[in-house]
Amino acid sequence: MRVYIETYGCQMNDYDSRMIGSMLVGAGHTLVRGPSEADAVIVNTCSVRERAERRVLGRLRHLRGLMPDGAILGVVGCVAQRLGDRLPRAARGVDFVIGTDQYYRLPDALEGATRGNLRVEVEPCHDQSYDARPAPVEASICDFVSVMRGCDNYCSYCVVPYVRGRERSRPVGSILEEISSLVALGTRDVTLIGQNVNSYADGAVDFAGLLERADAVPGLGRIRFATSHPKDLSNRLIDAVRDIERVCEHVHLPVQSGADRVLEAMNRSYGREEYLALVRRVRERIEGAAITTDIIVGFPGESEDDFRATLSLMEEIRFDSAFMFRYSVREGTRAAALPDDVPEATKIARLETVIATQRRITEEVNRELEGTVREVLVEGPSEKNPALLFGRTRTAKAVVFGGPTDLAGSVVATTIEKASAWTLRGRLADDPAPS
Ligand code: 5AD
Ligand code: SF4
Repeated sequence: MRVYIETYGCQMNDYDSRMIGSMLVGAGHTLVRGPSEADAVIVNTCSVRERAERRVLGRLRHLRGLMPDGAILGVVGCVAQRLGDRLPRAARGVDFVIGTDQYYRLPDALEGATRGNLRVEVEPCHDQSYDARPAPVEASICDFVSVMRGCDNYCSYCVVPYVRGRERSRPVGSILEEISSLVALGTRDVTLIGQNVNSYADGAVDFAGLLERADAVPGLGRIRFATSHPKDLSNRLIDAVRDIERVCEHVHLPVQSGADRVLEAMNRSYGREEYLALVRRVRERIEGAAITTDIIVGFPGESEDDFRATLSLMEEIRFDSAFMFRYSVREGTRAAALPDDVPEATKIARLETVIATQRRITEEVNRELEGTVREVLVEGPSEKNPALLFGRTRTAKAVVFGGPTDLAGSVVATTIEKASAWTLRGRLADDPAPS
């Protein structure tokens, strides 16, 4: 069959879609680039916030009209897991629903699917380990490898533990094999992903140990990782980031709020002072470390003072960048039992304020790079202006600069000439400065 896979949500979903793609190619199907040329469309969905979920449901209703008559429509991912057999009622015309732990059933589901004969598979997996083993069919210069699945943290607002199940680490050997096969296909920069990589464990190998082993894969240029939960970012891991040359000095460390009361209600297991101390430790030990974060505004009970505490934390830390969200109630989570009492207009206003604050801070932080020389891994032509090259610093900042396209995949020294909140404009360090 010709299969089109459409993906919403986080890096983990992108990764899963690739795994699904390689599994289906292995089963003799081909992947196509749009719904109109497909015999089957698979939508990989996100339910982290209500808006993401609504968008997916809207798209499902629309997709049917874009597909040939008789084509199969399947839904996988977090909305599939969350809604299960309620999903076809929310979006009519769905032929199968397969949850986050059942992807191995996909080839069979495709074979057996006939229009109007609904199949739903959303049993959670109780296996303690998991092994994705996708055989990469194509790779890009920067790519992701999943090292663990699920989450056991139960932050009170978050649906992830319910839709992605218990935390499971993937065996070291299989992760290293996948990294090697990506490198063989041209990948230079690998991001190891998991909801909370700090709790990675395969026997005696912890996440720092995994980084050491990944560092030994020949041909790999850079190693990154996400996400770290502040409650268990160990000194051992911080030192591994400092000491392993290929591991980039960037830690994504979601803080969510700057107010102790809110952090407590969020079940984050750390307070403001602990977070600040952790950031100090990271900065003392890792020279030039970039620290990025996630922030939620408008959590139940968030007062003006609580919100100001988040703003003052942002000013104190000066994050390199942040993903910022307004709180969205997720059915079944602990916070859903709390009154969603911050008015929508206040949530929107607070979100605008944190976005503007972070934008200014990012710009100021980036400006400090003007005039310095940075190592940039070239990814290829810039999408916005294909006459320029696009790449990233070790701290994941986007840089555009002039140079030959055959530099793609290599690391070049770049002088940063002009910085904004979004991009750094640079020049190859060996190029003479324009007079
Ligand atoms: N509402 C708003 N933001 C949320 N996030 C997770 N759940 C919610 C929710 N219910 C945000 C958190 C998390 C990021 C991936 O998404 O900031 O770190
Ligand atoms: Fe959700 Fe918290 Fe787990 Fe992150 S650590 S996935 S926010 S429960």
